[in-house]
Amino acid sequence: MDTTLVEKYSRPTPRYTSYPTAPHFHNAITGEHYRDWLTSLSPGDTISLYTHIPYCDRLCWFCGCATKQTNRYHPVERYLTALKQEIASVGELVDAGCPVTAVHFGGGSPTMLEPADMIDLGRTLRQHFNVTPDAEISVEMDPNDLTEAKYDALAAIGVTRASLGVQDFDIRVQRAINREQSFEQTRAVVEAMRKRNVRSVNLDMLYGLPHQNLETIKDTADQVLSLQPDRIALFGYAHVPWMKKHQQMIDEAKLPGSLERYEQANLAAALFQAHGYQRIGIDHFARSDDTLAGAHQDGTLHRNFQGYTDDDAKALIGLGASSIGKLPQGYVQNSVPTADYQRRVESGLATVRGLTFSQEDRMRGWLIERLMCDFAFSSQQLIDRFGSSADPLLREAKSLLADDTDGLVEETDGHYRLTETGRPFVRSIAAKFDPYFSKGIARHSVSV
Ligand SMILES: C[S@@+](CC[C@H](N)C(=O)[O-])C[C@H]1O[C@@H](n2cnc3c(N)ncnc32)[C@H](O)[C@@H]1O
Ligand code: SF4
Repeated sequence: MDTTLVEKYSRPTPRYTSYPTAPHFHNAITGEHYRDWLTSLSPGDTISLYTHIPYCDRLCWFCGCATKQTNRYHPVERYLTALKQEIASVGELVDAGCPVTAVHFGGGSPTMLEPADMIDLGRTLRQHFNVTPDAEISVEMDPNDLTEAKYDALAAIGVTRASLGVQDFDIRVQRAINREQSFEQTRAVVEAMRKRNVRSVNLDMLYGLPHQNLETIKDTADQVLSLQPDRIALFGYAHVPWMKKHQQMIDEAKLPGSLERYEQANLAAALFQAHGYQRIGIDHFARSDDTLAGAHQDGTLHRNFQGYTDDDAKALIGLGASSIGKLPQGYVQNSVPTADYQRRVESGLATVRGLTFSQEDRMRGWLIERLMCDFAFSSQQLIDRFGSSADPLLREAKSLLADDTDGLVEETDGHYRLTETGRPFVRSIAAKFDPYFSKGIARHSVSV
C-alpha cells in the first residue's frame, strides 16, 4: 500500500449511516410532519423499532454515543415514564396492520435498566405495536452491567441477538479509555446469553485507541475469535473531542496515526477472515451462516444508524431521546436533551428536526448506500429506479472514473466497482456524490 494514499484519503468524512447525513437535518420538520408520515403507513408496511436508553452507569472516555452517566436510578425511571408515553402516542398513529419485524434496544446501555423495567418496556412495546412472533429483538449490552436477573429479563422480552462492547482486552488500553473489562467477564456474558437461546452474538472491537499496536490488536482479535461470535463489528475509534467533551480525557499523544490505524484494521480483518468470517462493508464480519452474510451475498444489505443490517423494513421508527426515524417521506429526529425530550412527550411528539427527501436525495442516497454496502453500483439499476433524472449522477460517475489517477475505481459495461486499493477509502469516494458534504457544515472523524 502506498502510504501517501492513506494520508490523502484519511480526511474526515461522514460514515454514511444515513443520506443526507444528520448534520443536514433542519428544524422545519416538526411533529406535524411526523404525524402525517406515520398515519400514511398502510396495513402490511413493515416496521423496525429503535428504542434509545441514553444512560450508563460508567462513562468510557472514548464513547461517541448519545448517553450520560448516572449513579442514581431516579432519572432513568423518569425517562422510562416518558419513553412509555411516547411509545403509546406513536403506536396510536400507526396502523395496527403494520407488522414490526425488528426491535432494537440501543444506547447508552439498555442493560443498566432494572430487570422489572426491562420487562415492562418490552411489554409496553408489544402492547402498542404489532410485534411479530418471529421478530428480531436485539440489544446493546455493557458486559459490566449484568446479573442473572437481567439475563432472565432479556430472555423474557424475547432477545434474539446480543451485541456486546469489547473494544480491547489490553489493560493498558482499557485504563487509557476508562473501561476496564476482563475477558472472563465478557465470556460469562456470552455464555449466559447463549444458555438462554440467544441465537446470535455480536462483539464490538475498536482500533485506533490510545496505546493500541499490532500486538494488542492481535491479542484482542484472538480472544474475540475464541468466543466464536456470529458477527464482529470492527470500528475505527472516532476521536471528536469538540463534540464529546469527555474524549478530552484521552491523551492524543498516545493515539495511533493514520497509517498505524490502517495497519491495525488490516491485521484484525485478516485474522477474522482467516477464521472463516466474511468481510461485510467497511467494518463488519459475519460467519457464513449468519443472515448478514446472506444479505451481503444476495445484494440486499442495508446501512442504517446501527451500521449494516439485513433489515429491509419500510419504516424505521425511533423512540427515545435523540432517536432518528426514517419514513418513506424523510427523516425525523427527537430532541436530544433528556429533559427537553420528556417535556415534549408530555404534550405530543418529541420531533425537533428532520428532512424531507427530494428525488435527488433518494437517488444519491441509493447510490451511496450501494457503495457503502457492495463497494459497487450499476448504471442500469440507477436508470431502472430513477429514469432520466439519474443522468447527472451518471455523468458524475464517469468523471470520477476519468479523474481517478490512484486506481480506486473500475468500470465494465456501466458496472462501477471499487478496486481492492479503493475499498478502504469508500467513505471519501461516497463523499464525492454528496453535495451537502462540500458545504462543510459539520466536522467528522477521520475516514480510515
Ligand atoms: C452504544 S455503544 C455500546 C454498548 C454498551 N454500552 C457497551 O459499552 O458495551 C455501541 C458501540 O459503539 C462503539 N463506539 C462507541 N464510541 C465510539 C467511538 N468514539 N468511535 C468508534 N466507535 C465507538 C463501541 O464499539 C461500542 O461498543
Ligand atoms: S461505551 Fe457503552 S458503557 Fe461506555 S459510555 Fe458508551 S454507551 Fe456507555
